[in-house]
Amino acid sequence: MADRRVDPDDGAAYTWDEFSVYYKGKYKKKAIEEYWEECKPVKKGKDKAKGKGKGEEPKAKAKAKVKAEPKAKAKAKAKARKPPGAFKVCVCGGAGGIGQPLSMFIALDPNVKELSVFDLNIAMVPPAGVAADLGHLDKKSEVKGYVAELGKPAVTDLDPECLKGCNLVLIPAGMPRKPGQTRDDLFKVNADIAKGIVEACAKHCPEAILAMIVNPVNSIVPAMAELYKKKGLDPMKIVGVTTLDCVRASKFVGQITGKNPNFINVPVIGGHAGITIMPVFSQDKTAATIDQEKIAELDKRVQDAGTEVVNAKNGKGSATLSMGYAGARLGRSILAGLAGRRRVECAYVKSDITDLPYFTSKVVFGEGGVQKVLPIGELNEYETKRLEEAKAALKIEIETGVKYAEANELNC
Ligand code: NAD
Ligand code: LMR
Repeated sequence: MADRRVDPDDGAAYTWDEFSVYYKGKYKKKAIEEYWEECKPVKKGKDKAKGKGKGEEPKAKAKAKVKAEPKAKAKAKAKARKPPGAFKVCVCGGAGGIGQPLSMFIALDPNVKELSVFDLNIAMVPPAGVAADLGHLDKKSEVKGYVAELGKPAVTDLDPECLKGCNLVLIPAGMPRKPGQTRDDLFKVNADIAKGIVEACAKHCPEAILAMIVNPVNSIVPAMAELYKKKGLDPMKIVGVTTLDCVRASKFVGQITGKNPNFINVPVIGGHAGITIMPVFSQDKTAATIDQEKIAELDKRVQDAGTEVVNAKNGKGSATLSMGYAGARLGRSILAGLAGRRRVECAYVKSDITDLPYFTSKVVFGEGGVQKVLPIGELNEYETKRLEEAKAALKIEIETGVKYAEANELNC
C-alpha cells in the first residue's frame, strides 16, 4: 500500500500521487518534495483501522480533492496568470498562398488584438478583401487590410498604421519555388523584397519580432539580421521560421510508428534547405524507438518534404497550408512568450552554440522575444556526422546573406 502522509494544512492523509497532483503548479516540484518530507506518515494499522476517522475519510476526500481541486486550482492559476496579450501583428504577403491561412490562424489567437494584412496591388486577392473576410470571425482581433503598389518602397508608400505598434511581423512575402528550382535560386528576387519590408519595420516598429518565412531562409535571415545590426538595431529580432520542418518530422515519425504526432516533438536543427535540415530523431522518445537503419531514409524525407509539395503542385507554388499552420504555431509561441508564458520552439537565429553565426536550434521565447538560444544537446553517431555535413552547406548560404548585407543598407 502506498505511503500516506498527513498534510498539516488540512489534517488529511494523502498518497504522494494525490499530494503532488494537488500542489503541482502551485509550488515548484522540489518545494513539494520538501513539504512531503515534513508531513507525518500515517501509521499503517492506524490508517486501516480508523474507519471514518481522520486516516480513512480523507481517502475519499483526497480522491474528490484530486478530482475537484485541480479545477479550483486551475481557476486560481488562471487568475494568477497574466491575462492574454493585446498584441498587434502584421502578415506581409498576407493575401498570398501562405499569407491567407496564416492570417486566419493569427486572427484566431486570443493574444491578438489587431491584425494588419499587408500585400501588393497585384496580389491574387486585395488585402482589404482578406481583412473583410477575416473580420467576420467571432474573435477579439480587429483585422485591417493595407495595400502597396508594386515597385514602390514600403518605407515611404505603405500606410505607417500598418506596422506602427506591431509586436510581431510575419513575412511570407516573396516568390515561391517552381519544380527544378532550389530555394537558393530565389535569393536575388526575395532578398530585395525582404529588405523593402524590413526597412519599413526598422522605421515603424523597430521593437517588433520579424519572423522571416520567405526563402531562402538560410541566407535571408543572416542578410536581414546583419542589415539590422548595421542600422544599430537588434539582430535577435530577426527570426527564421523553420517550424514546418519540425511539423513534418513529427508527422512522418507518427506515420512510421503508428503513434499520434500530437505527442511527438522532433527537434530539427541546422537550417532550412536540403542537407542543412537536420532532424534529431534521437531526442524524441517515440522517434528514438525507430530502427537506426530506417533513419537515413526518414531523414531524407524530411529534407525533401518541401520539394515533394513543390512537385505535387506542379508549378503552382509550394507548401502554403502546412506552412500557414507551422508559421502560426511559431507566431503563437512568440506571442505567448511576449505575454509572459515562455515557449520553446526551433528557430533559425543569430547564434553562438556552434561555430556558425546563424543556426537553427531550440529557442526560448519570452517577454523580450528570443530569451535564450538553447544548445543542440546530445547527438548519436549518425547525427554527429550529419551535423558536420549540414554545417558545411549552411556556412556557404550564410555567407551569401552576409555579403548581401555588406553590399546594401536599410534606407530608412
Ligand atoms: P505566394 O506567391 O502565394 O504569396 C506571396 C505573396 O507575397 C503574394 O501575395 C505577393 O503579392 C506578396 N508580395 C510580394 N512582394 C511583396 C512585397 N514587397 N510586399 C508585400 N507583399 C509582397 O507565395 P507563398 O506560397 O505564400 O510563399 C511565399 C514565400 O514563402 C516563398 O518565398 C516560399 O518559398 C516561402 N516558404 C517558406 C517556407 C518555410 O518553411 N520557411 C515554407 C513554404 C514557403
Ligand atoms: C518548404 O519547405 O516547403 C518551403 O521551404 C518551400 C519550398 O520551396 O520547398
